[in-house]
Amino acid sequence: MSSSQDFILIKAKEDGVNVIGLTRGSDTRFHHLEKLDKGEIMIAQFTEHTSAIKVRGKAVIQTSHGEMDTEV
Ligand code: TRP
Repeated sequence: MSSSQDFILIKAKEDGVNVIGLTRGSDTRFHHLEKLDKGEIMIAQFTEHTSAIKVRGKAVIQTSHGEMDTEV
């Protein structure tokens, strides 16, 4: 499976926001931890390795489903 075309944009609103990639398949576990400081942006996709993305900390997340805030 190739990468989906949709990108997810995560903008950190505080230092130390965690963006965690979770594996695809029967075993769902963390495979990547990215730390963002305030103002930093990560642009990511769901891939053959990544089925879910967890965001911990204060951030704004834009997807094709809309924009949302983590409420910290
Ligand atoms: N090596 C990972 C992958 O190809 C990189 C990655 C893609 C990722 N999307 C992500 C890591 C989202 C964290 C969050 O799947």
